[in-house]
Amino acid sequence: MPKNFDEMENSNTSCNPSIHEVSSARRRLVLKGSVASVAATIAPFGALSGCASVPGVSVPGVLPALGFKAVPPDQGDRLVVPEGYTAKPIAAWGEPVGIAGNMPAFRWDASNSSDEQSVQMGMHHDGLHFYALDNRSDRGLLAMNHEYTDDGLLHPGGMTNWSAEKVRKSLAAHGLSVIEVEAKDGQWSMVRPSKYARRLTMNSPFAIGGPAQGHPLMRTKADPSGSLVLGTLNNCASGITPWGTYLSGEENWANYFDAPRKPDAHQQRWGLKSRSTYRWPEFDERFDLEKNANEANRFGWIVELDPMDPTSTPIKRTALGRAAHEGAWVAVTRSGKAVVYSGEDARFEYIYKFVSRDSIKPAGNGLSAAQANRELLDHGTLYVARFGSGGRGEWIPLVHGQGPLTPDQGFGDQGEVLIKARQASDLLGATKMDRPEWLAIDQKTGWVYCTLTNNSARGTSGNPGVDAANPRANNVMGSIIRWKEDADFDATGFVWNHLVLAGDAANERAETKGNIKGDIFACPDGIAFDRRGILWIQTDTHATQMYRGEFVRIGNNQMLACDPQTGEVKRFLTAPTNSEVTGVTWTPDGRTMFVNIQHPGETPTDRSNPSEPSKYSNWPDYRSDGRPRSATIVVQHKDGRVIGS
Ligand code: FEO
Ligand code: CA
Ligand code: CA
Repeated sequence: MPKNFDEMENSNTSCNPSIHEVSSARRRLVLKGSVASVAATIAPFGALSGCASVPGVSVPGVLPALGFKAVPPDQGDRLVVPEGYTAKPIAAWGEPVGIAGNMPAFRWDASNSSDEQSVQMGMHHDGLHFYALDNRSDRGLLAMNHEYTDDGLLHPGGMTNWSAEKVRKSLAAHGLSVIEVEAKDGQWSMVRPSKYARRLTMNSPFAIGGPAQGHPLMRTKADPSGSLVLGTLNNCASGITPWGTYLSGEENWANYFDAPRKPDAHQQRWGLKSRSTYRWPEFDERFDLEKNANEANRFGWIVELDPMDPTSTPIKRTALGRAAHEGAWVAVTRSGKAVVYSGEDARFEYIYKFVSRDSIKPAGNGLSAAQANRELLDHGTLYVARFGSGGRGEWIPLVHGQGPLTPDQGFGDQGEVLIKARQASDLLGATKMDRPEWLAIDQKTGWVYCTLTNNSARGTSGNPGVDAANPRANNVMGSIIRWKEDADFDATGFVWNHLVLAGDAANERAETKGNIKGDIFACPDGIAFDRRGILWIQTDTHATQMYRGEFVRIGNNQMLACDPQTGEVKRFLTAPTNSEVTGVTWTPDGRTMFVNIQHPGETPTDRSNPSEPSKYSNWPDYRSDGRPRSATIVVQHKDGRVIGS
């Protein structure tokens, strides 16, 4: 939030060269991929021999067919999956997560207290991951993000009579959940109580790791050591690590703080404004930057959580850089180093990767893999991407003392480089992208995919023009870009092209036609590979765009399956009115797919009218006394098929 084009962050006024302003639009090719199959687990780049090393050269693939019957675009307040499939909602906002002795039921009028909300599912489900217990496909944990709140729905009366209790409830509805789920006779439900059940809210302690730990810019009155933060917020996409932990991105954190009337240059570069969207500062001075200037520096990080250890303290990994982080995704080099890719979902911001200094350690000596690698993401090198014309690109290191990252340019040490990663990237000439959202890594072929969801400001007055990587002006439809590193995931050069430009060929405006081979969609956001090597695409078109104009034939947000070798796209799922499809994970056998449906009934203003909470949607409960709720859906085939086969 906000996702309305009129309110979206656009804070990059750097004169960082758009080197692509001189590049040829004809370079913007959509090339056939070289994808064979995807490893079931995160495997080293070493499996790549024989794969294409230049764009446009494909390798014979063995991808299976997309064996389902595509569903048509839909505009109904319902969730549709192909013939033979079922989709059952579970774990909706407000359901108790399952903490023994503390499982308050959801109240349909939203009158649960803040204390009750702190042990119930948060609002606005986003990224999620299934952690099998005992490698089973019928029992496991779901770790998931709760991105933001619609305070018009969260409280009786919405934001009228705004109070400290309403602020506390809003804080409690943010963060992460860990729940246990189990299938009995094929029917999935939450296991309650569960020893794993957990909520991490804006009042939970998070440690700080990496070079910015203890930095003067991270210190506050409440935490003079700069090493322990209360809470995480606007958690968007999810990733996992080979050592079994969960990664969560703190995305649009700037909307939660009140900046001074005249924000300083640092605050301006991070989009901080004098009036926050959430009105927390009115009752919690932690979010008032006049009183706690450094509190904002403690957000915008990638958070690492060990969901298998309910007593563990999650850690904010500052070595990965500060950003409006969508999320983070891990690849492994032949030598066993972790390479973490991340993007910054804001207009004209950047794509990063981090290369760990050390190699991943196995479990042993009484330590789980998560414990053995507890400091792996605290040491390494952060890079930012520059996409050149001609299908080549490079990674530029953000290292203190190198190039312009010196004290006279405002960077006193590496901690300051990471806290001010945007300013550092501006000076390094990184490429200003069209809102990078999720990434997906094909570990076998080495191709890395990233959704660029949209950027209606591209090419407009006062903003950067088109370039090779961001080739469309007033880009309301979005694209998926991909690259392959030169030798291994830690290389500093790569080749790149676009998998697809989203859109509808029936549109008149050239920039909105796209080049999809198959079912049309707009605004790609979530992407993930399943074990068969199918790339699943989830969309997030905003309520202000859907159902009209250039989007009129595209309908509700949706989820599609793509064969990245042929580019074929088939629509698998359409979501309820004004909702977003975001987050996907599978059981090890691939026969159950969990998908999150966020903000059913989202209003054009992103905040519901409490007197008519079900105006646009009443999914999934359809109760006359209820309200729409984000929820996880469990997708299965009646014959137990692998999903999508
Ligand atoms: Fe939270 Fe960029 O979507
Ligand atoms: Ca997203
Ligand atoms: Ca989005």
